Amino acid sequence: MEKFQQDLLQWFRENARKLPWRQTYSPYHVWISEIMLQQTQMDRAVAYFNTWISYFPDIKSITRASEEKILKLWEGLGYYSRAHNILKTARLLAKNFNGNLPEDYKSLLRLPGIGPYTAGAIMSIAFHREYPLVDANIERVFARLFNLDKQVKDKETQIFIWQKAREMIPPGCARDFNQALMELGALICIPRNPRCRICPVSSHCQALRLELVSKRPVLKNPSKTIFIEMATGVLERNSRVLIQKRKPSGVWPNLWEFPGGRLEHGETPEMALVREYNEETELAVGNLRKIITVQHSYTIYRVVLHCYFCSLLAGRDEPKLRGAQEYRWVNPAELSRYAFPAGHRKLIDHLFYSGYFS
Ligand code: ADE
Repeated sequence: MEKFQQDLLQWFRENARKLPWRQTYSPYHVWISEIMLQQTQMDRAVAYFNTWISYFPDIKSITRASEEKILKLWEGLGYYSRAHNILKTARLLAKNFNGNLPEDYKSLLRLPGIGPYTAGAIMSIAFHREYPLVDANIERVFARLFNLDKQVKDKETQIFIWQKAREMIPPGCARDFNQALMELGALICIPRNPRCRICPVSSHCQALRLELVSKRPVLKNPSKTIFIEMATGVLERNSRVLIQKRKPSGVWPNLWEFPGGRLEHGETPEMALVREYNEETELAVGNLRKIITVQHSYTIYRVVLHCYFCSLLAGRDEPKLRGAQEYRWVNPAELSRYAFPAGHRKLIDHLFYSGYFS
């Protein structure tokens, strides 16, 4: 084995974080952890992973769960298509593979939510097979190791990185080697101020020799942030509040929310809220009382959400839904059972912390 591989593997064996799925490396655990780790920090992923596994100890148990339960367990992780895809994949696996993940790269790639990265992770980390994988950590490590002077997402650079990831795997060591590269990216070869002085493979690093580490990876133009302003209203009636379930397609499918929406040009949050209530539910609301303004970010969006209590004015007293599939009047204590997008969840948490709800 070459010196680079040896140095890296030895470092990994001494420094690997003790992560729950590393106790068994069961294909199911590896699959769920890798899906959760996409777009999610390690500590959060570990917490959600442990809860998930306590509810769903195996793949078949997922197929017996409602989508509602699955979304609830995913609440706060974002990128909810990942949760929908896990449910779809679990059903396919129960039907076609006796509830197991197949030890076959092409079959894995056909499953919803599983692309080359996740298929490579399951093949190598769970099944010990010599398949490569590349994530953002590995892109960064390679950009420095090989002093790549183009953006890592550049097409030819991607081909180069995947090729390297494939040919560098030491025979029989794919599980540890692939994880070691990612671990190095997470702990040592970090985006800013990388810890080159304690890096186990610094002697192999081309960017370090050329004093270009801070210039690698070559950054892409930052994607434009889109700022959105929204208003939402907690409508109370007989100690219950109105929530509605979003449509099964579009943004946040099947999550619950308080009615509301985006401010139109020239509108105040109060005007937008009254208009949105009318458009979405045909209810006339007024007597707006400000609760809080919360902010949250997802993908390229930064949302400022103005939150109000509101009351019914004269007119109909049950909603006629225009933008949602279902509504309920719920006791505030029951809100914890429903999955909400992050902004609405922040509002609900605030209502409990600050004593509006108990
Ligand atoms: N990031 C995503 N998957 C990982 C893994 N299996 N080990 C270390 N870091 C990771």
